[in-house]
Amino acid sequence: MNISVESFYNQLSSDYTALISKCVPRYEEIFYNLFCYLPKDFKPQRILDLGCGTGNLTAAILHHFPNAEIHALDISADILNECKTRFKENTNIIYHQQDFSVLDFPENHFDFIVSSIAIHHIKDDEKKKLYQQILTILKPNGIFEFADQTRGITEEIYQTHIARWKIEALKLGSTPKNWDMWMQHQTDHDYHTPVVWHLEQLKEVGFTNIDVLWKNIMWVIVYAQKK
Ligand SMILES: C[S@@+](CC[C@H](N)C(=O)[O-])C[C@H]1O[C@@H](n2cnc3c(N)ncnc32)[C@H](O)[C@@H]1O
Repeated sequence: MNISVESFYNQLSSDYTALISKCVPRYEEIFYNLFCYLPKDFKPQRILDLGCGTGNLTAAILHHFPNAEIHALDISADILNECKTRFKENTNIIYHQQDFSVLDFPENHFDFIVSSIAIHHIKDDEKKKLYQQILTILKPNGIFEFADQTRGITEEIYQTHIARWKIEALKLGSTPKNWDMWMQHQTDHDYHTPVVWHLEQLKEVGFTNIDVLWKNIMWVIVYAQKK
């Protein structure tokens, strides 16, 4: 029987950072590139990290914006506890155990909403609703950026992504057992969608300045701004 995404990450929580670093090619590069295109005068005061996990992106947010109020949100209580323990000295982080497909924040609340490798866990209709909700809770001129896994535009490209991913993950030190675990997780909890779909939905819900900032195999960084 399939376990829920929440149970999967609860079980993985203390091993997550070690395993993901051996699974995602150029993982650290994602956190570097997420901050390269922000306007020079962008000084977000309130930031939301969607699907924070153990806090690998949260750490990069803290590095760039140490004085911001940072909201770290995740559906998994155990992985969120790992994040809380990691940042126990940082009093500017507020934690939310919440499902991001039903976000509950006031309008015009955040300057910056960011996410890494999490949005593919919800279905396409929920992704679109999430983008509408993100637009609502961002302040005018606020920025939304996410890094995530995407599908190829054709099945052939997608299967080549998966084959290349396996080669890279094994080179990074994933064992065949780790790989099988990620593939079972993918079958159970992943909804990969071509990057062009994301760009179209962001435009349709009302974002502007939408672009792909970086791409490697199936991982992309997408940027969008509220007018
Ligand atoms: C692959 S991890 C990414 C964690 C972190 N952002 C990183 O880059 O290492 C995906 C995270 O998204 C969370 N997640 C999955 N579905 C979610 C949902 N519907 N609402 C909130 N969090 C969710 C999982 O619990 C997990 O911590």
